[in-house]
Amino acid sequence: MKTIKDIDLSGKRVFFRVDFNVPMDEHQNITDDSRIRAVLPTLEYALDHNSKLIIASHMGRLKGKVVPELSLSPVAKRLGRLLRKEVIMAKDCIGSEIKALVNKMKGGDVVLLENLRFHPEEQKNDDAFAKSLAELCEVYINDAFAVSHRANASVVAITKYAPVSGAGFLLQKELNYFKQAMADPQRPVVAIVGGAKVSSKLGALENILHHVDKIIIGGAMANTFLKSSGHDLGKSKIEIDLIEFAASIMRKAAESGIKFYLPVDAVVASHFDARAEIKIVPIQEIPSSWMIMDIGPATSRLYDEILYDAKTIIWNGPMGVFEMDAFSRGTFAMANSVANSYALSIVGGGDTDVAVHESGETDRITYISTGGGAFLTLLEGKVLPAVAALEV
Ligand code: 3PG
Repeated sequence: MKTIKDIDLSGKRVFFRVDFNVPMDEHQNITDDSRIRAVLPTLEYALDHNSKLIIASHMGRLKGKVVPELSLSPVAKRLGRLLRKEVIMAKDCIGSEIKALVNKMKGGDVVLLENLRFHPEEQKNDDAFAKSLAELCEVYINDAFAVSHRANASVVAITKYAPVSGAGFLLQKELNYFKQAMADPQRPVVAIVGGAKVSSKLGALENILHHVDKIIIGGAMANTFLKSSGHDLGKSKIEIDLIEFAASIMRKAAESGIKFYLPVDAVVASHFDARAEIKIVPIQEIPSSWMIMDIGPATSRLYDEILYDAKTIIWNGPMGVFEMDAFSRGTFAMANSVANSYALSIVGGGDTDVAVHESGETDRITYISTGGGAFLTLLEGKVLPAVAALEV
């Protein structure tokens, strides 16, 4: 795989595919700009080489419809502030007007193309669309780790048409950290797997059995494992059809000598509501009409102890319904334990990065991935299509 450093960028039109799919509130204010900040080293490097920067991203999930609220123009403003440069917001991402715009660019100019997903061809990995994008540039750089699990035109097909393609610093960093944690890690390796559903982590759970020494389970997905161990969990969410799968994961872990940990207590609520009545109870004593919302303090203490000798930690998925204040302590305690550990710690996937940011422990964790689905795809042991496209 070529990297940005292997390619001559001087004075060239460089197309940067980034992932600026950032959260925004109802007033189109960006509520977390980590994904924008994460590619600044790549963009600054190109500016130092007097390149003409053509930046492209998707925003939101839409099937080729133009949704004005999902315009990238708020991102152009934020990027301009962060780069301390004018960022020209283009009206579209392909077409004669855009071609004319990029042909007029001078070294050091920055253009942000409009949301790629306004065109349905983007998500169809359409060749003609990819060719139109590639025609804008002399060099293509993928620095969009977070969307590299999608076979989309701007990350896969485009590499067939761009004169030269390579990986930016963020994509390289994400892949390198992951490799360090999974392919050649310092042991013991502890995987912390949380989140709402076992069903979204089937592949990841199977795959980590080949790499880690200990597995810690949290979040509502722990319920299915606890149920398969014979616990009565009241009204807690359980994936009945995955009870046998959960049992098989625990069996395989035991056969491979992997230590497997489940919650020993829980924060339970009378119903699924931030203002519900709550209690802390041992797992053996969940009241029949109550439900588990978070891991309990004894579990947090146990999990903290487990992390004490870890040399590598990989964490995906919150420990409870952390979006509700009353059920956030388990996840924040976990962030604190990971931060206090002496391990190389890597966090990614789903809401885990949001939870860590909220916990205030961001700076004490080795690496927080910008990827949700992409991180999970790596955990499943799969090759990312956009990375494979750069490798040919
Ligand atoms: C993400 O937020 O995980 C990426 O931007 C990919 O978005 P998608 O899941 O809508 O393809």
